[in-house]
Amino acid sequence: MHSGEQYHQVILASQRDRAVRDRFQKMALDLLPAGADVLDFGAGTGIDAKAYAASGHLTFVYEPAEAMREYLAQYCHGELARRSIIAVASPLACKVHAVTADFAVLNHFADHAALFEELSRVVRPGGFVLASMLNPYYLGDARYRWWRANVMNLARTGRYAIPSESRIHRFAPRVVAQAAAPYFRLERLVPRGFGWITQLYTFLLFRRI
Ligand SMILES: C[S@@+](CC[C@H](N)C(=O)[O-])C[C@H]1O[C@@H](n2cnc3c(N)ncnc32)[C@H](O)[C@@H]1O
Repeated sequence: MHSGEQYHQVILASQRDRAVRDRFQKMALDLLPAGADVLDFGAGTGIDAKAYAASGHLTFVYEPAEAMREYLAQYCHGELARRSIIAVASPLACKVHAVTADFAVLNHFADHAALFEELSRVVRPGGFVLASMLNPYYLGDARYRWWRANVMNLARTGRYAIPSESRIHRFAPRVVAQAAAPYFRLERLVPRGFGWITQLYTFLLFRRI
């Protein structure tokens, strides 16, 4: 099976991932004014993009991985043909009300300062960036040696990377918020309380200043 299709089938088959995705899409759709346009950054196979387009939002998709793009072209064939979804080769090719980045896209970055500077040129004033990121405090990961080895790193620097998961970094929200300033203000953080140790994903909402 093609790797884009494989990702698509696996993530949709997971009940836990589907529940997280439903919550993320609901938050994005509740925040988007009627008819507002959106860029799905790191769109993968277009699962969220299809939902935004179905809700009447012109949706741009940016996806660097060819395998993902190929499957997105199949999965969103109708929307691409009708131009309710538009694929862009760079985020800078569109100007939108909102950018979404679902399922750990921002964990692929070692540092977010340049990214938020770029997104400040994509998101109109008053608009937002909504990202779901791996929760660095998730207690379910405490069974792994890498988690325990990085607890002090996390407390000291607010970040860590795991050698076995090359190019995947985990961040305390304050570190991402610092990188987002001066263009974006962290407006909302989900979960709260106990959720910080029980939930694998955290949602960060940044408002364009
Ligand atoms: C776990 S997948 C999530 C895909 C999609 N957002 C979803 O919800 O199914 C992470 C995605 O981040 C993309 N990605 C990796 N590095 C990126 C970068 N520098 N800029 C944008 N997207 C990136 C990958 O190609 C991949 O599609």
